[in-house]
Amino acid sequence: MPSHLSSRVFQFKDRVHELSSDELAVYRDLDPARIPQHIAIIMDGNGRWAGKRALKRFLGHQQGAESVQYVVETASRINLRWLTLYAFSLENNLRRPRSEVNFLMKLLKNYLTGNVKRMNDNNVRMAYIGRTHDLPSEVQETMQWAMEATAKNTGTTLTLALNYGSRTEIVDAARGVVRNLIAESHRRGCSLEDLLSVDGLESRIDEGDIVANLYTADMPDPDLIIRTSGELRISNFLLWQIAYAEIFVTQRLWPDFRGLHLLEAIAEYQRRDRRFGGLTVSTDEDRADLEPADQVAEDIEDKLNKTTHTLHHR
Ligand code: FPP
Repeated sequence: MPSHLSSRVFQFKDRVHELSSDELAVYRDLDPARIPQHIAIIMDGNGRWAGKRALKRFLGHQQGAESVQYVVETASRINLRWLTLYAFSLENNLRRPRSEVNFLMKLLKNYLTGNVKRMNDNNVRMAYIGRTHDLPSEVQETMQWAMEATAKNTGTTLTLALNYGSRTEIVDAARGVVRNLIAESHRRGCSLEDLLSVDGLESRIDEGDIVANLYTADMPDPDLIIRTSGELRISNFLLWQIAYAEIFVTQRLWPDFRGLHLLEAIAEYQRRDRRFGGLTVSTDEDRADLEPADQVAEDIEDKLNKTTHTLHHR
């Protein structure tokens, strides 16, 4: 490996010592082997934060952008692989006053231009999900520039959901699946109908095809989703991907959210028992508990067989 690369890898190896003393106190009680791979955050409460201080809403957003950077840097210090932030929804775009939308676009642009150096210092790679092609072209250009400028980083991937809506993402994925099938029928020189009749729709479209066509195709599903400011809603965010995510809601408003609170959410996550629809079988006692269940099932089957036999011979 060239020496400039090896020193870069070394530089990013273990950065836990860069946490603040408050953060370190929480981090030390975490199990490093069970840090989530992917955390997604619904950043909410910027307007309320400003309202409480009799400030204009845009100052809440401005403070919210500061929180983004604090949280990203803590995430990178603990080597969180994936952090996805809901920065601007399709609904925000359609339903907020133009002046607020324009301010958010300007804030995003300034955030990216002002923080790319810090992203590189922290080995953070930028990515985006959403219908970003509908954003103003100068914002798209800055986004592209920030993505390219951080593309070689190997630490946390920071994904900003921009002009994002989960239902729209699923619609886009469905279109992608159909488009791929049409392309395949063209390759084979047959009609789509013929292609589907060969081995049936069921074997042509499964969950994997949907996943491969989501904006998040190259990411693992979030393990933990955090929502600030206390609302108990998912608000059209990553509906498919959070099927088994743990949900953590805090009353704290986004502009007051820091790396410490990210670590506290991880601590809560580590206290949860993730079963993915199955059962937790962690102790011998649990196992012993399940064994009689098999026996009971066998006994029931036995009795049913005997009853059927008796009925047949009446
Ligand atoms: C919700 O606050 C938050 C948003 C609409 C967008 C989030 C934007 C930021 C955190 C700032 C910019 C982000 C980046 C990446 C630069 P709200 O206005 O809905 O709050 P409210 O519910 O209290 O009114």
